[in-house]
Formats: sequence, structure tokens, C-alpha cells
Amino acid sequence: MTVKNPSIAVEAHNITVAYDRQPVLWEVDFEMPAGKLIGIIGPNGSGKTTLVKTLMGVLTPDSGYVEIFNEPLHEVRSKIAYVPQRESVDWDFPASVYDVVMMGRFSAKKLFQRPSKQDKLVVRQSIEKVGLTPFIRRQIGQLSGGQQQRVFLARSLAQEADIYFMDEPFVGVDAATETAILTLMLTMKDQGKTLIIVHHDLQTVSEYFDEVLLLNTRVIDYGPVETVLTDANLKAAYGGQLNVLSKVGELMKQSEFPVREKEFKNRTVKK
Ligand SMILES: Nc1ncnc2c1ncn2[C@@H]1O[C@H](COP(=O)(O)OP(=O)(O)OP(=O)(O)O)[C@@H](O)[C@H]1O
Ligand SMILES: [Mg+2]
Repeated sequence: MTVKNPSIAVEAHNITVAYDRQPVLWEVDFEMPAGKLIGIIGPNGSGKTTLVKTLMGVLTPDSGYVEIFNEPLHEVRSKIAYVPQRESVDWDFPASVYDVVMMGRFSAKKLFQRPSKQDKLVVRQSIEKVGLTPFIRRQIGQLSGGQQQRVFLARSLAQEADIYFMDEPFVGVDAATETAILTLMLTMKDQGKTLIIVHHDLQTVSEYFDEVLLLNTRVIDYGPVETVLTDANLKAAYGGQLNVLSKVGELMKQSEFPVREKEFKNRTVKK
């Protein structure tokens, strides 16, 4: 019998995801401890958003599986909160700051209930924590970029989850807001929350995170910041991007279509 480790918050085993047969994640495998601030970094298109969506069960991987606190995803959905990448949100959607943050209180099972006093209190407190109280009735489309970013942060706070996935929460915010968000994250960590943050600013990685996952389709490295951010690793992630992708593409084709691959070779390859 294997003894499960209760301090593991998120584990991914052999995750492969492809869009149109082009792999964007390849055999991604790691265990992330609870109660830490963890960064996911890698170049544009390296699969960071795809990984987060897979970890949350929004995307089903082509192979592999995810466990959260040693349970399959569907058992623990209410423990997970998500702050989406800003570009992926429809900002014309007619909803106020208050409405969006209230959505954090409504899981599928209580969708048609009225908000309780407690729901309303938590929503107001969450809005206050991100400094948006003056804008509480404002339509989200009429906020600045940095304010919009904080609306979804407040929605995730309102969820009172255990694990927070945030996709580039610092993009488009000014220095003061960045500091405020980081302070909030550190407070959440002190309360035992696990924060998994997609981040693209290499300059601040070592300052912000306890551990970092360096991704480029594959896991280049994962662990404490100082062991991961080496020249060789960064070169592997950022320098040889085309190389990595084409090699993985080859592997994928071989494993998925072994027979056809052979036929193809027989027909075309002359030695
Ligand atoms: N729905 C989709 N259909 C087809 N391809 C997709 C889809 N979503 C993402 N991709 C492709 O998958 C790859 C990984 O995308 P992903 O959004 O995960 O990258 P990312 O690391 O989050 O990039 P960024 O830093 O730009 O946010 C990209 O090449 C992207 O074009
Ligand atoms: Mg992304």
C-alpha cells in the first residue's frame, strides 16, 4: 500500500495535452506542496495557461491525471479558485464588480439560491481587500486594466478556497498594485493557502516565489527557485524553444501512429 503524503496540494502525472495533434504539454509530472507560493514560468505559448486549465479540470488531458489533496479533481472542485488571464475575459459582459465577486460564492449546487448574509459579507470584504470598494457598483467593462485584474482576484478570495490558480495576475497593474497583490498573496500563504501563479517577469521570480516550475511544453525543471533558475535551464526554456517543440512533435507522432509512421517511412525514406 502506498502512503499518501498529506502535504501535497497538487500532483500531475504524465500529463500530455495536444491541440490538433500538436502537443503543447508533454509528460508533465510534478507534486506541488501545500502552503507555498509557487510560480509557473516559461515563454509565450509554452503551455502555462493550458497546464493551469488542466490542473483545474477545465481541460481534459490526452493522457495522465491530476490529483488535488490526494483526491480526484471532481471531489475537490470547491477547494479550487481561479483567476483567469485578463485577455481571456469578456469585459463587455454586463456585470458589476459586486456581481462578479458574488459569483465566487456560487458553486453549481447552490446556483439558484439567494445570497445569504454571510455571502454578502464575504463579498464586501473581498472587494475591500483588493481596494475596489469605491467601484463596487461599476460595470467591469468600465474599469481600468489594473482594476479589472483585481476584480477576479476578489472573486477568488470570495470563494474561500484552499488552492488558488492565478494566470498572470500582475499583468497591466502599476507598481503599487503589484506590491498590494503580493502582500495579499503572502497573507493568504500565512493562512495556509496554496498559491500557484503563472508569471512572466523573470526579474521578480526569486523575490516572489518559494518554488518555481519552468515550463516549455515539458517540465524543464521544478523546485526551489535557486536550483531552477540556472543559466542552462533558462536557455533550455527560452533559448531552444523551436528545438524542444519539434522534438516533442516527433515523439508524439511516433507514439500515436506507430504503424502509419512505419509505412510512411517505408514508402518515402531511401537509404
Ligand atoms: N484552444 C486552442 N486551440 C488550439 N491551440 C491552442 C488553444 N489554446 C492554446 N493553444 C496553443 O497552445 C500553445 C500553448 O498555449 P497556452 O495558452 O497554454 O500558452 P501560455 O504559456 O499560457 O502562453 P502566454 O504566455 O502567451 O499566455 C500555444 O501554441 C497556443 O497557440
Ligand atoms: Mg497564458
